[in-house]
Amino acid sequence: MKNIAVVGSQWGDEGKGKIVDWLSEQADVVIRFQGGHNAGHTLVIDGVTYKLRLLPSGIVRKNKISVIGNGVVVDPWALLEEIKEIKAKGITVDPNNFIISESANLILPFHREMDEIREDAAGEKKIGTTRRGIGPAYEDKVGRRSIRVMDLRSEKNLDQRLESVLMHHNAIRKGLGKKIFEKNQLKKDLLKIAPEILKFSQPVWLKIDEFKKQKKRILFEGAQGILLDVDHGTYPFVTSSNTVASSAATGTGCGPNSINYVLGITKAYTTRVGEGPFPTELNDKIGEFIGTRGKEFGTVTSRKRRCGWFDGVLVRQTIKISGIDGIALTKLDVLDELDEIKMCIQYELDGKKIDYLPATAEDQLKIKPIYKTFPGWKSSTNGVKNIKELPQNAKDYIYALEDFIGAKISSISTSPERDDTILIENPFEI
Ligand code: GDP
Ligand code: IMO
Ligand code: MG
Repeated sequence: MKNIAVVGSQWGDEGKGKIVDWLSEQADVVIRFQGGHNAGHTLVIDGVTYKLRLLPSGIVRKNKISVIGNGVVVDPWALLEEIKEIKAKGITVDPNNFIISESANLILPFHREMDEIREDAAGEKKIGTTRRGIGPAYEDKVGRRSIRVMDLRSEKNLDQRLESVLMHHNAIRKGLGKKIFEKNQLKKDLLKIAPEILKFSQPVWLKIDEFKKQKKRILFEGAQGILLDVDHGTYPFVTSSNTVASSAATGTGCGPNSINYVLGITKAYTTRVGEGPFPTELNDKIGEFIGTRGKEFGTVTSRKRRCGWFDGVLVRQTIKISGIDGIALTKLDVLDELDEIKMCIQYELDGKKIDYLPATAEDQLKIKPIYKTFPGWKSSTNGVKNIKELPQNAKDYIYALEDFIGAKISSISTSPERDDTILIENPFEI
């Protein structure tokens, strides 16, 4: 029995949702293990688009179990809204097919406000967060003052937990000249929705153990990308969780040996939303062209995504950091009309050539990409399902990319639609 962890190998939005949905045909359970509703995963099935933020991308398929693990930060109102939206599209979400970890930490309105206050105060030095309260919620988690799903079970307990978290937040709010946050209304609001959340809650570690005994196949669905990892990404321009594959174990309650294969989702070029270094960024007509053709607008915040050439140095690095076994290359079709295509194969820092991303933001902003140029294929690859049908120049680009990053390309995506995917090697069968 094989379990797969799917992670983004760049700065997020690589097409994880599409690939997880496509792979979930062969899985029994799909589990989110980190992040929150900063994620925006898009699925297109027979022309119908589903945008998922917290719900795992297996939710649209019948007879699959979708799970939110303990490592995810959950805004309970955002979750209920998303469930309502997806149910309106005819999808079933009930306690038989959806589970949320009782130990998942909640994102509450004061987290969102703190995210906004900080971003606004930082001005040009802002991170460019999604302003969903992700960072402040994770801070409270490691600060041991967070409210977890299980805390919604008892009013007395909830009252005490709110008291302690608000003591911390209100001290900061007062210092920043902001209104203090009132406990009683929030407690009332939480108790009102508590039954709707608690009906899905279970100890996820125990469920995973059951799934393993029942020989169910598990897909762990990552959010964001390795370059946004709080330890390994372009710090401080990162998210507040570990986005690497090993997070799938801690974020759900199983050992690392429960993950048998790590699939890295990799865009055939590079995008980034928010601030921070981006060595191959194209602030020109080609960048505009890629953004328009690739519809590079954020799923969550509708912000324009920054676009650039494929950065082989970065992806080779994230493959090592996250232990990626193979990659799914996405959005190849977006490059169809370009005369030539570039791939970054080295950087130059202060006149010296380097083969990895330096650790400080200062150096990351200074490095200059060194490119290898490939001729474009100037014909449509949209919807291609067999590698033999790809133009030779496209195949040359793909094989050079595979060779450079040092990981097998196991599939290639050629449109947003679920089935427009070339299968080269089935990760479930390796
Ligand atoms: P995620 O966050 O990694 O799940 O990615 P997003 O859903 O935020 O962004 C990826 C976007 O690209 C979505 O709009 C997808 O529908 C779209 N997409 C995924 N794969 C392909 C592909 O192969 N070709 C094209 N043209 N679009 C794709
Ligand atoms: P998916 O799962 C792309 C970025 C934000 C910002 C930084 C920190 O759809 O790939 P946060 O709100 O997390 O504190 O913001 O991380 N970011 C993403 N960028 N895709 C995502 O998720 C992202 N989630 C967060 O834009 O730069
Ligand atoms: Mg996204």
